[in-house]
Amino acid sequence: MTTIAVLVGSLRKESFNLALAKGIESLAPEGVNFVYADMDLPLFNQDLEADFPAKAVAIKQVVEQADGVLFVTPEYDRSFSGVMKNAIDWASRPWGQSSFAGKPAAIVGASMGPLGTTQAQSQLRNVLLYLDMKVMGQPEVYFNAITGLDEQGHVVGESREFIKSFAEAFVAHVRSAASAR
Ligand code: FNR
Repeated sequence: MTTIAVLVGSLRKESFNLALAKGIESLAPEGVNFVYADMDLPLFNQDLEADFPAKAVAIKQVVEQADGVLFVTPEYDRSFSGVMKNAIDWASRPWGQSSFAGKPAAIVGASMGPLGTTQAQSQLRNVLLYLDMKVMGQPEVYFNAITGLDEQGHVVGESREFIKSFAEAFVAHVRSAASAR
């Protein structure tokens, strides 16, 4: 079984990014288990590192127990969301005990337009490379939620084949990194 930790950078109930993550999960190959991290964490405060909050411990465990990490990010003001950065900051600590180092990863994002999440993803990629993750380069997914989701939040139309091919490529990326270890 291949386990993927999923970090969705929106807490919104009807989040397009959560719908995209669920769409990727539903179109993924056999033998893959998606585990969604609880992203509703306290704000990072270095004073709390001496006694990590339970939710911060939990997200570190979700990432550490996974074979790969899928980052699903909205774009807020031409960057990725504070929710995403806060979760990354927690799981990257304490110093020397980052949960991310060496893990295979991919970034996708959904917005309401064709150009959305390009800048969010590019900035997030920079952070993940710093954290020494093995970030998949292609295919990139800049998902247009208006044309790509139906009213129930299911991936529809031409997007389905594309999201399926992304899911296959990502799982292959994660599995090849695991076999190289
Ligand atoms: C946005 N949105 C947005 N979209 C975009 O393509 N580029 C941007 O810079 C921004 N900036 C932005 C800032 C803030 C504070 C909000 C709340 C929204 C719109 C955003 O893409 C849209 O709200 C998505 O639906 C957010 O993702 P979820 O919550 O649906 O997953």
